[in-house]
Amino acid sequence: MKVMVVGGGGREHAIIKKLKENKSITEIFALPGNGGMKDDATLVNIGAKDIEAQVEFAKANNIDYAVVAPDDPLVLGAVDALSDAGIPCFGPNKRAAIIEGSKVFSKNLMKKYNIPTAEYEVFNDKDEALKYLETAPIPTVIKADGLALGKGVIIAETLEDAKNAVISMMEDKVFGESGSNIVIEEFLTGPEVSVLAFCDGKTLKPMVSSMDHKRALDGDKGLNTGGMGTVAPNPYYTKDIAKQCMETIFLPTINAMNSENRSFKGCLYFGLMLTEKGPKVIEYNCRFGDPETQVVLPLLESDLFTIMQATTNGTLAETEVKFSKGAAACVVMASKGYPEKYESGFELKIDNSIADKVYIAGARLEDGILKTAGGRVLGVTDTAENLETALGKAYENLKLVQFENAFWRNDIGAKALKAIKGE
Ligand code: AMP
Ligand code: GLY
Repeated sequence: MKVMVVGGGGREHAIIKKLKENKSITEIFALPGNGGMKDDATLVNIGAKDIEAQVEFAKANNIDYAVVAPDDPLVLGAVDALSDAGIPCFGPNKRAAIIEGSKVFSKNLMKKYNIPTAEYEVFNDKDEALKYLETAPIPTVIKADGLALGKGVIIAETLEDAKNAVISMMEDKVFGESGSNIVIEEFLTGPEVSVLAFCDGKTLKPMVSSMDHKRALDGDKGLNTGGMGTVAPNPYYTKDIAKQCMETIFLPTINAMNSENRSFKGCLYFGLMLTEKGPKVIEYNCRFGDPETQVVLPLLESDLFTIMQATTNGTLAETEVKFSKGAAACVVMASKGYPEKYESGFELKIDNSIADKVYIAGARLEDGILKTAGGRVLGVTDTAENLETALGKAYENLKLVQFENAFWRNDIGAKALKAIKGE
Protein backbone atom coordinates (compact mmCIF):
# COMPACT_ATOMS: atom_id res chain seq x y z
CA MET A 1 0.00 0.00 0.00
CA LYS A 2 1.19 3.48 -0.82
CA VAL A 3 0.16 6.17 1.64
CA MET A 4 0.54 9.94 1.39
CA VAL A 5 0.50 12.29 4.37
CA VAL A 6 -0.32 15.96 3.77
CA GLY A 7 1.50 18.36 6.12
CA GLY A 8 5.03 19.00 7.28
CA GLY A 9 5.38 19.40 11.05
CA GLY A 10 6.11 17.36 14.16
CA ARG A 11 2.56 16.03 14.23
CA GLU A 12 2.96 14.63 10.72
CA HIS A 13 6.31 13.10 11.65
CA ALA A 14 4.64 11.31 14.58
CA ILE A 15 1.83 10.08 12.31
CA ILE A 16 4.33 8.82 9.72
CA LYS A 17 6.47 7.00 12.29
CA LYS A 18 3.38 5.29 13.70
CA LEU A 19 2.05 4.34 10.24
CA LYS A 20 5.39 2.66 9.50
CA GLU A 21 4.54 0.00 12.08
CA ASN A 22 2.00 -1.40 9.61
CA LYS A 23 3.84 -3.80 7.34
CA SER A 24 1.28 -3.60 4.50
CA ILE A 25 2.46 -0.04 3.85
CA THR A 26 5.30 -0.17 1.34
CA GLU A 27 5.92 3.55 0.86
CA ILE A 28 4.94 6.78 2.62
CA PHE A 29 5.06 10.13 0.84
CA ALA A 30 5.07 13.40 2.80
CA LEU A 31 3.59 16.48 1.05
CA PRO A 32 5.67 18.52 1.66
CA GLY A 33 7.09 16.98 4.88
CA ASN A 34 10.42 18.45 5.98
CA GLY A 35 14.09 17.48 5.69
CA GLY A 36 14.00 15.90 9.16
CA MET A 37 11.65 13.18 7.88
CA LYS A 38 13.87 11.96 5.06
CA ASP A 39 14.53 8.57 6.70
CA ASP A 40 10.84 7.93 7.30
CA ALA A 41 9.12 9.17 4.15
CA THR A 42 9.68 10.20 0.55
CA LEU A 43 9.51 13.99 0.50
CA VAL A 44 7.36 15.51 -2.24
CA ASN A 45 7.58 19.22 -2.91
CA ILE A 46 3.84 19.95 -2.88
CA GLY A 47 2.46 22.40 -0.31
CA ALA A 48 -0.18 21.46 2.26
CA LYS A 49 -2.65 23.90 0.70
CA ASP A 50 -2.02 22.95 -2.94
CA ILE A 51 -4.98 20.60 -3.20
CA GLU A 52 -4.99 20.38 -6.99
CA ALA A 53 -1.36 19.21 -7.05
CA GLN A 54 -2.08 16.73 -4.23
CA VAL A 55 -4.84 15.12 -6.28
CA GLU A 56 -2.64 14.99 -9.39
CA PHE A 57 0.18 13.41 -7.37
CA ALA A 58 -2.13 10.84 -5.77
CA LYS A 59 -3.53 9.77 -9.15
CA ALA A 60 -0.17 9.70 -10.92
CA ASN A 61 1.44 7.60 -8.17
CA ASN A 62 -1.42 5.18 -7.48
CA ILE A 63 -1.77 6.28 -3.88
CA ASP A 64 -3.98 3.87 -1.91
CA TYR A 65 -4.72 6.10 1.07
CA ALA A 66 -4.24 9.76 2.02
CA VAL A 67 -3.98 11.29 5.48
CA VAL A 68 -4.73 15.02 5.56
CA ALA A 69 -3.34 16.31 8.85
CA PRO A 70 -3.36 20.17 8.99
CA ASP A 71 -6.39 22.43 9.43
CA ASP A 72 -5.98 24.55 6.28
CA PRO A 73 -6.33 21.83 3.63
CA LEU A 74 -9.15 20.18 5.59
CA VAL A 75 -11.10 23.44 5.83
CA LEU A 76 -10.38 24.13 2.14
CA GLY A 77 -11.79 20.73 1.09
CA ALA A 78 -8.74 18.51 0.44
CA VAL A 79 -10.61 15.39 1.57
CA ASP A 80 -13.50 16.19 -0.78
CA ALA A 81 -11.15 16.63 -3.73
CA LEU A 82 -9.12 13.48 -3.02
CA SER A 83 -12.24 11.38 -2.34
CA ASP A 84 -13.83 12.62 -5.59
CA ALA A 85 -10.70 11.40 -7.37
CA GLY A 86 -11.20 7.95 -5.81
CA ILE A 87 -8.54 8.19 -3.09
CA PRO A 88 -9.74 7.04 0.36
CA CYS A 89 -8.80 9.61 3.00
CA PHE A 90 -8.37 10.15 6.71
CA GLY A 91 -9.96 13.44 7.76
CA PRO A 92 -13.28 15.27 7.68
CA ASN A 93 -14.75 16.69 4.50
CA LYS A 94 -15.20 20.45 4.09
CA ARG A 95 -18.73 20.47 5.50
CA ALA A 96 -17.52 18.82 8.71
CA ALA A 97 -14.17 20.66 8.98
CA ILE A 98 -16.15 23.86 9.55
CA ILE A 99 -16.30 22.79 13.21
CA GLU A 100 -12.76 24.25 13.37
CA GLY A 101 -12.96 26.58 10.37
CA SER A 102 -15.62 28.81 11.88
CA LYS A 103 -15.84 29.64 15.57
CA VAL A 104 -19.26 31.21 14.95
CA PHE A 105 -20.43 27.87 13.54
CA SER A 106 -19.04 25.83 16.45
CA LYS A 107 -20.39 28.19 19.12
CA ASN A 108 -23.85 28.20 17.52
CA LEU A 109 -23.74 24.39 17.23
CA MET A 110 -22.98 24.06 20.93
CA LYS A 111 -25.76 26.50 21.87
CA LYS A 112 -28.31 24.72 19.64
CA TYR A 113 -27.48 21.26 21.02
CA ASN A 114 -26.86 22.23 24.67
CA ILE A 115 -23.17 21.32 24.67
CA PRO A 116 -21.46 23.10 27.59
CA THR A 117 -19.23 26.01 26.52
CA ALA A 118 -18.49 29.62 27.53
CA GLU A 119 -21.35 32.14 27.16
CA TYR A 120 -20.83 34.26 24.04
CA GLU A 121 -22.08 36.86 21.58
CA VAL A 122 -21.31 37.06 17.84
CA PHE A 123 -20.62 40.38 16.09
CA ASN A 124 -20.18 41.40 12.46
CA ASP A 125 -20.20 45.11 13.24
CA LYS A 126 -17.28 46.78 15.02
CA ASP A 127 -19.33 49.51 16.71
CA GLU A 128 -21.80 47.04 18.14
CA ALA A 129 -18.94 44.91 19.46
CA LEU A 130 -17.33 47.96 21.10
CA LYS A 131 -20.66 49.00 22.65
CA TYR A 132 -21.20 45.48 24.02
CA LEU A 133 -17.76 45.52 25.64
CA GLU A 134 -18.74 48.54 27.81
CA THR A 135 -20.94 46.26 29.93
CA ALA A 136 -19.18 42.89 29.41
CA PRO A 137 -17.38 41.23 32.33
CA ILE A 138 -13.58 41.64 32.23
CA PRO A 139 -11.37 39.64 31.58
CA THR A 140 -13.07 38.73 28.34
CA VAL A 141 -12.09 36.58 25.39
CA ILE A 142 -12.15 37.81 21.78
CA LYS A 143 -11.95 35.25 18.96
CA ALA A 144 -11.68 35.74 15.21
CA ASP A 145 -14.23 33.56 13.42
CA GLY A 146 -11.90 31.86 10.94
CA LEU A 147 -8.50 30.20 10.98
CA ALA A 148 -5.77 32.59 12.14
CA LEU A 149 -2.61 30.49 12.41
CA GLY A 150 -3.54 29.67 16.00
CA LYS A 151 -3.32 33.34 16.97
CA GLY A 152 -6.96 34.38 16.66
CA VAL A 153 -7.76 34.22 20.38
CA ILE A 154 -7.08 37.23 22.61
CA ILE A 155 -7.66 37.17 26.34
CA ALA A 156 -8.21 40.80 27.32
CA GLU A 157 -7.46 41.70 30.94
CA THR A 158 -8.71 45.30 30.62
CA LEU A 159 -11.50 47.04 28.73
CA GLU A 160 -8.88 48.92 26.70
CA ASP A 161 -7.15 45.68 25.62
CA ALA A 162 -10.53 44.23 24.67
CA LYS A 163 -11.38 47.26 22.53
CA ASN A 164 -7.96 47.17 20.88
CA ALA A 165 -8.46 43.48 20.07
CA VAL A 166 -11.81 44.21 18.40
CA ILE A 167 -10.33 47.10 16.41
CA SER A 168 -7.30 45.07 15.29
CA MET A 169 -9.50 42.19 14.10
CA MET A 170 -12.45 44.09 12.61
CA GLU A 171 -10.90 47.35 11.41
CA ASP A 172 -7.19 46.66 10.88
CA LYS A 173 -7.98 43.11 9.70
CA VAL A 174 -4.83 41.63 11.23
CA PHE A 175 -6.25 38.17 10.50
CA GLY A 176 -7.73 39.17 7.13
CA GLU A 177 -11.30 38.00 6.48
CA SER A 178 -11.02 35.62 9.49
CA GLY A 179 -11.78 38.66 11.66
CA SER A 180 -14.85 39.93 9.76
CA ASN A 181 -16.98 38.10 12.28
CA ILE A 182 -15.88 37.76 15.89
CA VAL A 183 -17.00 35.94 19.00
CA ILE A 184 -16.76 37.66 22.38
CA GLU A 185 -17.01 35.11 25.15
CA GLU A 186 -16.96 34.52 28.86
CA PHE A 187 -13.54 33.99 30.45
CA LEU A 188 -13.42 30.53 32.01
CA THR A 189 -10.93 29.12 34.51
CA GLY A 190 -9.81 25.62 35.39
CA PRO A 191 -7.34 22.97 34.20
CA GLU A 192 -7.22 22.46 30.44
CA VAL A 193 -7.36 19.03 28.85
CA SER A 194 -6.97 17.97 25.23
CA VAL A 195 -8.88 14.90 24.12
CA LEU A 196 -8.48 13.61 20.58
CA ALA A 197 -11.03 11.10 19.32
CA PHE A 198 -11.29 8.87 16.27
CA CYS A 199 -14.68 9.20 14.59
CA ASP A 200 -16.30 7.40 11.67
CA GLY A 201 -19.48 9.47 11.59
CA LYS A 202 -21.36 7.10 13.92
CA THR A 203 -18.90 5.84 16.51
CA LEU A 204 -16.44 7.90 18.52
CA LYS A 205 -13.43 6.39 20.31
CA PRO A 206 -11.43 8.81 22.47
CA MET A 207 -7.66 8.56 22.65
CA VAL A 208 -5.63 8.96 25.83
CA SER A 209 -6.00 12.52 27.23
CA SER A 210 -3.13 15.01 27.15
CA MET A 211 -1.96 18.39 28.42
CA ASP A 212 -0.37 21.07 26.23
CA HIS A 213 1.96 23.85 27.48
CA LYS A 214 1.18 26.86 25.32
CA ARG A 215 3.32 29.62 26.82
CA ALA A 216 6.90 30.08 25.66
CA LEU A 217 8.60 30.25 29.06
CA ASP A 218 8.78 28.31 32.34
CA GLY A 219 5.99 28.95 34.83
CA ASP A 220 3.50 29.58 31.99
CA LYS A 221 5.11 32.95 31.31
CA GLY A 222 5.86 34.59 27.97
CA LEU A 223 3.89 34.63 24.76
CA ASN A 224 1.45 32.03 23.48
CA THR A 225 3.06 29.52 21.11
CA GLY A 226 1.94 26.58 19.03
CA GLY A 227 2.80 24.40 22.07
CA MET A 228 6.11 23.92 23.92
CA GLY A 229 5.50 20.42 25.20
CA THR A 230 2.88 17.86 26.15
CA VAL A 231 2.25 15.03 28.55
CA ALA A 232 -0.22 12.16 28.44
CA PRO A 233 -2.37 11.12 30.16
CA ASN A 234 -3.63 14.35 31.72
CA PRO A 235 -4.01 13.66 35.48
CA TYR A 236 -6.93 16.09 35.82
CA TYR A 237 -8.94 13.95 33.41
CA THR A 238 -10.28 11.33 35.83
CA LYS A 239 -12.52 8.38 34.90
CA ASP A 240 -15.56 10.27 36.21
CA ILE A 241 -14.76 13.35 34.16
CA ALA A 242 -14.16 11.18 31.09
CA LYS A 243 -17.60 9.63 31.53
CA GLN A 244 -19.19 13.05 31.97
CA CYS A 245 -17.41 14.34 28.83
CA MET A 246 -18.59 11.36 26.80
CA GLU A 247 -22.21 11.96 27.86
CA THR A 248 -22.39 15.75 27.78
CA ILE A 249 -19.85 16.68 25.10
CA PHE A 250 -18.43 13.94 22.83
CA LEU A 251 -21.55 12.00 21.84
CA PRO A 252 -23.74 15.14 21.67
CA THR A 253 -21.18 16.71 19.31
CA ILE A 254 -21.12 13.71 16.95
CA ASN A 255 -24.93 13.55 17.02
CA ALA A 256 -25.20 17.31 16.46
CA MET A 257 -22.93 17.12 13.42
CA ASN A 258 -25.05 14.26 12.03
CA SER A 259 -28.26 16.24 12.61
CA GLU A 260 -26.73 19.12 10.66
CA ASN A 261 -25.84 16.73 7.81
CA ARG A 262 -22.14 17.30 8.54
CA SER A 263 -21.11 13.81 9.61
CA PHE A 264 -17.58 13.94 11.06
CA LYS A 265 -14.93 11.38 10.09
CA GLY A 266 -11.30 11.55 11.13
CA CYS A 267 -9.82 12.93 14.34
CA LEU A 268 -11.94 15.35 16.35
CA TYR A 269 -10.02 17.36 18.94
CA PHE A 270 -11.82 18.58 22.03
CA GLY A 271 -10.06 21.44 23.82
CA LEU A 272 -11.72 21.29 27.24
CA MET A 273 -11.64 23.35 30.40
CA LEU A 274 -12.59 21.65 33.65
CA THR A 275 -14.51 24.47 35.32
CA GLU A 276 -16.22 24.46 38.72
CA LYS A 277 -19.47 23.98 36.82
CA GLY A 278 -18.16 20.94 34.95
CA PRO A 279 -16.20 20.35 31.73
CA LYS A 280 -16.77 22.90 28.97
CA VAL A 281 -15.57 23.10 25.37
CA ILE A 282 -12.98 25.82 24.73
CA GLU A 283 -12.46 24.85 21.12
CA TYR A 284 -12.89 22.10 18.58
CA ASN A 285 -10.19 21.21 16.07
CA CYS A 286 -10.95 19.02 13.07
CA ARG A 287 -7.56 17.25 13.22
CA PHE A 288 -4.82 15.82 15.41
CA GLY A 289 -3.28 18.41 17.77
CA ASP A 290 0.34 19.45 17.60
CA PRO A 291 2.21 18.61 19.88
CA GLU A 292 -0.51 16.42 21.48
CA THR A 293 -0.07 13.79 18.74
CA GLN A 294 3.59 13.42 19.72
CA VAL A 295 2.56 11.97 23.12
CA VAL A 296 -0.73 10.30 22.19
CA LEU A 297 0.43 8.12 19.28
CA PRO A 298 3.47 6.65 21.09
CA LEU A 299 0.98 5.26 23.65
CA LEU A 300 -1.29 3.71 20.99
CA GLU A 301 -0.95 -0.06 21.07
CA SER A 302 -3.42 -0.80 18.27
CA ASP A 303 -2.50 -0.31 14.63
CA LEU A 304 -2.96 3.30 13.52
CA PHE A 305 -3.44 2.52 9.83
CA THR A 306 -6.19 -0.03 10.58
CA ILE A 307 -7.99 2.53 12.76
CA MET A 308 -7.65 5.27 10.15
CA GLN A 309 -9.11 3.01 7.47
CA ALA A 310 -11.96 2.11 9.86
CA THR A 311 -12.87 5.81 10.22
CA THR A 312 -13.11 6.03 6.43
CA ASN A 313 -15.09 2.80 6.05
CA GLY A 314 -17.44 3.33 8.98
CA THR A 315 -16.19 0.25 10.86
CA LEU A 316 -14.73 1.95 13.92
CA ALA A 317 -17.19 0.18 16.27
CA GLU A 318 -15.57 -3.18 15.45
CA THR A 319 -11.99 -1.87 15.47
CA GLU A 320 -9.72 -2.01 18.49
CA VAL A 321 -8.39 1.33 19.79
CA LYS A 322 -6.18 0.43 22.72
CA PHE A 323 -3.70 2.58 24.62
CA SER A 324 -0.91 1.52 26.92
CA LYS A 325 -1.36 2.17 30.65
CA GLY A 326 1.88 4.13 30.75
CA ALA A 327 2.69 7.80 30.22
CA ALA A 328 4.43 9.90 27.58
CA ALA A 329 6.19 13.26 27.55
CA CYS A 330 7.29 15.54 24.72
CA VAL A 331 9.59 18.55 25.16
CA VAL A 332 9.72 20.95 22.23
CA MET A 333 13.08 22.47 21.28
CA ALA A 334 12.61 25.85 19.61
CA SER A 335 14.82 28.54 18.11
CA LYS A 336 15.68 31.40 20.49
CA GLY A 337 13.25 34.27 19.86
CA TYR A 338 10.27 32.07 18.91
CA PRO A 339 7.31 32.83 18.71
CA GLU A 340 8.66 36.17 17.52
CA LYS A 341 11.76 36.73 15.39
CA TYR A 342 14.34 33.92 15.33
CA GLU A 343 17.28 32.78 13.22
CA SER A 344 17.39 29.58 11.14
CA GLY A 345 20.00 27.61 9.23
CA PHE A 346 21.95 26.08 12.14
CA GLU A 347 23.18 22.52 11.82
CA LEU A 348 20.96 20.05 13.64
CA LYS A 349 22.73 17.12 15.32
CA ILE A 350 20.65 14.24 16.65
CA ASP A 351 22.31 11.20 18.19
CA ASN A 352 21.28 8.03 16.34
CA SER A 353 20.33 6.28 19.56
CA ILE A 354 17.31 8.56 20.03
CA ALA A 355 16.33 9.22 16.40
CA ASP A 356 13.12 7.22 16.91
CA LYS A 357 12.06 9.51 19.74
CA VAL A 358 12.51 12.79 17.90
CA TYR A 359 9.69 14.32 15.87
CA ILE A 360 11.03 17.01 13.58
CA ALA A 361 8.93 20.06 12.80
CA GLY A 362 11.22 22.72 11.35
CA ALA A 363 14.29 21.46 9.46
CA ARG A 364 15.58 21.34 5.91
CA LEU A 365 18.32 19.45 4.11
CA GLU A 366 21.09 21.57 2.63
CA ASP A 367 23.71 19.60 0.67
CA GLY A 368 22.85 16.56 2.77
CA ILE A 369 23.21 18.47 6.06
CA LEU A 370 20.15 18.89 8.28
CA LYS A 371 19.63 22.51 9.31
CA THR A 372 17.05 24.28 11.46
CA ALA A 373 14.25 25.93 9.49
CA GLY A 374 11.55 26.96 11.90
CA GLY A 375 10.54 28.37 15.28
CA ARG A 376 9.59 25.03 16.74
CA VAL A 377 12.39 22.79 15.47
CA LEU A 378 11.52 19.42 17.00
CA GLY A 379 9.96 17.54 19.90
CA VAL A 380 11.85 14.99 21.99
CA THR A 381 9.63 12.32 23.49
CA ASP A 382 9.70 9.22 25.60
CA THR A 383 7.32 6.83 27.27
CA ALA A 384 7.50 4.95 30.57
CA GLU A 385 5.28 3.24 33.11
CA ASN A 386 4.66 6.60 34.82
CA LEU A 387 4.89 10.28 33.98
CA GLU A 388 7.83 11.10 36.23
CA THR A 389 10.02 8.50 34.50
CA ALA A 390 8.79 9.48 31.02
CA LEU A 391 9.67 13.12 31.70
CA GLY A 392 13.09 12.18 33.05
CA LYS A 393 13.81 10.12 29.93
CA ALA A 394 12.57 12.85 27.54
CA TYR A 395 14.84 15.44 29.21
CA GLU A 396 17.78 12.96 29.07
CA ASN A 397 17.14 12.42 25.33
CA LEU A 398 17.12 16.16 24.85
CA LYS A 399 20.81 16.28 25.81
CA LEU A 400 21.54 14.20 22.70
CA VAL A 401 20.12 16.86 20.36
CA GLN A 402 22.15 19.92 19.53
CA PHE A 403 21.70 23.08 17.53
CA GLU A 404 22.76 26.65 18.03
CA ASN A 405 20.26 29.00 19.71
CA ALA A 406 18.10 26.15 21.01
CA PHE A 407 15.72 26.83 23.87
CA TRP A 408 13.10 24.76 25.64
CA ARG A 409 10.98 24.82 28.76
CA ASN A 410 12.40 23.05 31.79
CA ASP A 411 9.05 22.57 33.50
CA ILE A 412 7.03 20.51 31.02
CA GLY A 413 4.81 18.19 33.06
CA ALA A 414 5.60 19.92 36.38
CA LYS A 415 1.97 20.88 36.94
CA ALA A 416 0.81 17.39 35.98
CA LEU A 417 3.25 15.80 38.43
CA LYS A 418 1.97 18.05 41.22
CA ALA A 419 -1.60 17.04 40.39
CA ILE A 420 -0.62 13.34 40.50
CA LYS A 421 0.98 13.83 43.92
CA GLY A 422 -2.11 15.72 45.11
CA GLU A 423 -0.21 18.95 45.78
P1 AMP B 1 -6.76 28.55 20.90
O1 AMP B 1 -5.86 29.45 20.13
O2 AMP B 1 -8.17 28.50 20.39
O3 AMP B 1 -6.13 27.20 21.16
O4 AMP B 1 -6.91 29.21 22.34
C1 AMP B 1 -5.77 29.55 23.02
C2 AMP B 1 -5.97 29.45 24.48
O5 AMP B 1 -6.82 30.51 24.93
C3 AMP B 1 -6.67 28.20 25.00
O6 AMP B 1 -5.81 27.11 25.11
C4 AMP B 1 -7.13 28.68 26.36
O7 AMP B 1 -6.06 28.63 27.29
C5 AMP B 1 -7.45 30.14 26.13
N1 AMP B 1 -8.90 30.35 26.03
C6 AMP B 1 -9.68 30.27 24.93
N2 AMP B 1 -10.96 30.52 25.23
C7 AMP B 1 -11.00 30.79 26.55
C8 AMP B 1 -12.05 31.13 27.48
N3 AMP B 1 -13.32 31.27 27.10
N4 AMP B 1 -11.70 31.33 28.77
C9 AMP B 1 -10.42 31.21 29.18
N5 AMP B 1 -9.40 30.89 28.36
C10 AMP B 1 -9.68 30.68 27.07
N1 GLY C 1 -1.92 22.05 20.43
C1 GLY C 1 -3.05 22.78 19.99
C2 GLY C 1 -3.42 22.59 18.59
O1 GLY C 1 -2.98 21.70 17.91
O2 GLY C 1 -4.23 23.40 18.10
